[in-house]
Amino acid sequence: MTIEFFARLPLHGETQFIPGDNRNRGDWNRSPAESTGAVSNFAIDDDFTYIDYLSQVARAAEINRFSGALLVNSPFGDEPWIISSVLARETKKLRYVNAFHPGHFSPWQAAQMAASFQRSTGGRLVWNIIQGGSDAIQRAIGENLPHDERYERAIEFLDMVKGFWETESFHYDGKYYQAHGGALRGPQRKAPIPLICSAGTSEGARQLAAKHADYYLMLAEDPAIVAANIADIRERAKAYGREEHIRFGLSVDVILRETDEQAFGEAKRFFHEGVKAGTVKLAADFSKIASDTNRARYERYNGKEVRDFDDLFIAPNLWGGFSYIGIPPGFAFVGSYDSVERKIREFADLGISWFFINGYPHLEEIYRLGEHIIPRFRQRRETPANDEQPALLVNAPIQARGNN
Ligand SMILES: Cc1cc2nc3c(=O)[nH]c(=O)nc-3n(C[C@H](O)[C@H](O)[C@H](O)COP(=O)(O)O)c2cc1C
Repeated sequence: MTIEFFARLPLHGETQFIPGDNRNRGDWNRSPAESTGAVSNFAIDDDFTYIDYLSQVARAAEINRFSGALLVNSPFGDEPWIISSVLARETKKLRYVNAFHPGHFSPWQAAQMAASFQRSTGGRLVWNIIQGGSDAIQRAIGENLPHDERYERAIEFLDMVKGFWETESFHYDGKYYQAHGGALRGPQRKAPIPLICSAGTSEGARQLAAKHADYYLMLAEDPAIVAANIADIRERAKAYGREEHIRFGLSVDVILRETDEQAFGEAKRFFHEGVKAGTVKLAADFSKIASDTNRARYERYNGKEVRDFDDLFIAPNLWGGFSYIGIPPGFAFVGSYDSVERKIREFADLGISWFFINGYPHLEEIYRLGEHIIPRFRQRRETPANDEQPALLVNAPIQARGNN
């Protein structure tokens, strides 16, 4: 199984501190006195904006041999599809895994836009189908369909997109959508359909993954729970003959340093900043308006007495402190290069092939991962057979150039 790494583009601000910290980059910075000034605040006449910074993160991910980057969608940040369209032509190979909320688009519009993106980028779009968190958050932005129905609609939505893409004349009569003979035409039709990721552990989320996902994504947590989810989704995919097809991804943060002690020191710093700034309470309050499964997950790992950062390790080098102080995705591999490699291999053995892995600040952590972790998973180039090796010019006389 080939292991691939994906970075993350921080669409809702970049900081090496806790969320909401005033010290940030670009126009997320609210503490001008402490700004480095490296990325401007999007004022008129500025040369570099936060989006230029995101471009730098994307380039760093590509240079460091990540396969792609995850772009999450929240009501607080920039819109993934637009940002990835801007950045895709500034990179050559990087794939963009865009959080994509089907309820915000029509299936036809999404198919046509995706085909254009694919044609412009050599097929580098991946969709991460999301439903956008809890009903309360959705209602705030004008989406009134309840949680379970959003999944029903998303399944139909993907039936529609695949129908437009893969048939000559598509007919569909669903609860939410109908089509009478439409299909992508001309060169658009030749574009590859985006790979589809999905996540979530509710019944609706599992059904959607079984029918439509190429990759089912999970948040890092107790490995036994991850293994059980993989088994369940594979079993459900059988109903569609997809049990061999579907693959699995894990989203996890990282604090990567030369030694375990250095990495733990950084975890401790995050923890104490969070406690001091009161984000522990904010995270607990936020979990109350999260979706049922996210709330249950929060309670599973945080419903105990926590005295210091190291109470939040649930296994060696697997730390839930980010969830406790309110930084998604919640769990991190914390440790030395060897320790983090071991953790990645442990989850790969459960069946994970895509790792969405990043830390804070993203740019700096991408370089650490690129220099110390990704090379450990790169497949060795085959050594050419002896007779194919170029002759070694040991001590060969240097030819004088020119006329003399
Ligand atoms: C890797 C990964 C990325 C996610 N990205 C987003 C996102 O950008 N926006 C969002 O609203 N939810 C995101 N989610 C959350 C899921 O789509 C889903 O809403 C959540 O897991 C709860 O689903 P459930 O309540 O149906 O179980 C992500 C989940 C994972 C595992």
